[in-house]
Amino acid sequence: MKTKLMKILALAMGAALACFALSACGGGSSDNADGDYKLVKDGTLTVICSADFPPFEYMDGDNIKGYDAAIITEVGKRLGLDVEISHMAFDSLLTQVAGGSADVSISGLTIRDDRLEQVDFSTPYYDSNLAIVTLAESPIASKDDLKDKPVGAQSGSSGEDWTKENVGDKNYTPFQEITEALASLRTGKVEALVFDAPVAEAYVKNGYSDCKVLEVIPTGEQYGIAVSKENPALTEAINKALADMQADGTMEELEKELAI
Ligand code: ARG
Repeated sequence: MKTKLMKILALAMGAALACFALSACGGGSSDNADGDYKLVKDGTLTVICSADFPPFEYMDGDNIKGYDAAIITEVGKRLGLDVEISHMAFDSLLTQVAGGSADVSISGLTIRDDRLEQVDFSTPYYDSNLAIVTLAESPIASKDDLKDKPVGAQSGSSGEDWTKENVGDKNYTPFQEITEALASLRTGKVEALVFDAPVAEAYVKNGYSDCKVLEVIPTGEQYGIAVSKENPALTEAINKALADMQADGTMEELEKELAI
C-alpha cells in the first residue's frame, strides 16, 4: 500500500518536473513577443538561396526543397512565421541579405571571416568539405594533376577561392550554377570542378554517373544562416530555434529524412 502511494507520488513529481522543464525551454521568446527583430514582410521570414545545391537546396517543380529548406521552414515555424524561399544567384545572396531585401539566406553558406565583415551568421548547423569532381574516365589522378588544367567552380564560393589559390587564376572558370559547371565538364570545357563534397556526392549519385568525386579536400567548413548585421535579434532568435532543434532531435531527424 505504502509503496503504491510512493509510486504515485513519484510519478506526479516527475510529471510536474517535466512540465516545468518544457515551459522553461519552450518559452514564449520564439514569437518575437518583444518585437525586437525586423522583417522584410510582417509575419514572414523572407529567405533566399541558390537552389542548385542538392541535398541542401534544389528545385522540385516550382518548389525549393532540401535540408536547408527543411531547417529554415522549421525555424520559421518555431518563430511563429510563414517562410517564403526564393532562388537567387549564389554570388549575390550575401549582398541582398546585407542590403535588407531578404531576411536571411540559408544556402550551404560557409561561415568565413571575410563574410562576417558583410553579414552575421547563425551558429553552425552542418560540417562540410570541398571535393574535386572530374569525368569518371578522366586521366586526372589527384589534385596535384590540376596545375595547368582548366578548372571550374561556382562564382563567389569557397570552391572558387580554393581553386584560385591552389590552381591559379589563369585556368579558372567561374560558373553561376553548378549544373552549368557540370555541363561544361561534360563538354570538356573544364576538366575538373571544385565544390562542396556532400553536394558532389549527391550529383554523382543522381544523374551524373559519368562523373566522379576524385578527391575530398578536408577544408573543415561549417555552414551557417546569414542574417543582416542590422538584425542581431533575428540571429539570436534563429540560434535559439537551432539549439532547441538540436536538443530535441529535430536536426537528427531531418538529416536522416534527407539522407545527409
Ligand atoms: N559552401 C560553399 C560556400 O559557402 C558553397 C555554397 C554554395 N551554395 C549553393 N547553394 N550553391 O562558398
